[in-house]
Amino acid sequence: MAKTVIVSLGGSFLFSHSNALPALKQKLMDMRGFNFGIIVGGGRLARNYIDFARKLGLAENALHTIGIMGTDINAFMISKYFNCALYCSDPRLMKFKSKIVVSGGFKPGWTTDVCSAYAAVSSGSKVIFNISKERGVYTKDPKAFKNARLIKEINASKLIEMMTHKRTAGVNYIFDPMASKICRMSGIRVVVTNSVFDIFRYLNGLQVKGTIIEPK
Ligand code: UTP
Repeated sequence: MAKTVIVSLGGSFLFSHSNALPALKQKLMDMRGFNFGIIVGGGRLARNYIDFARKLGLAENALHTIGIMGTDINAFMISKYFNCALYCSDPRLMKFKSKIVVSGGFKPGWTTDVCSAYAAVSSGSKVIFNISKERGVYTKDPKAFKNARLIKEINASKLIEMMTHKRTAGVNYIFDPMASKICRMSGIRVVVTNSVFDIFRYLNGLQVKGTIIEPK
């Protein structure tokens, strides 16, 4: 029976690395023995709307809902591009009846990282590929600090300590601490990377270029 693997496709990655999408599509289709659940983020589309609506004075819950709508547009677009099923409900109940299923966000106050963690639990996926515009997790913000170093491996508890915990709409996490807690509890590894080829490297037992977050 095919194993299911969850891919958290960051909205920021979508637009900054759109030239990687044809390879991603082809490789996922060709990979035998695996089904894929792809959870798509909202990226700049969601953040622009959230910022605008925040200036209008909308409540935080409404801002999260606007963020989810952004993820839904991106997920719809990717499902059409991949020519595959679109799932629009609770990731905790996600069903994998076809080779690739695409979904956006679900609940106000979560992020698509949280949806990915729940989808991994419901599908039995022992790994999540968090495809981000950053190469992985760094010792500090690589845009602000030239001496920031890429961390090859970190455990979930250490990463949670490093992250901000304010859950405002549109907040930017390399991997959401709430999702890290779900992964820690369920023994799910996370690979943070900006290379779609890391999916295939990892599944073929090769070394990845990004960061591995160990659950323990
Ligand atoms: P994401 O944070 O998941 O999109 O959703 P993203 O930024 O593209 O993902 P990464 O960071 O690249 O991985 C954007 C916003 O939408 C709302 C939140 O406010 C979130 O910050 N959202 C998303 C929810 O409220 N619930 C969800 O289930 C998903």
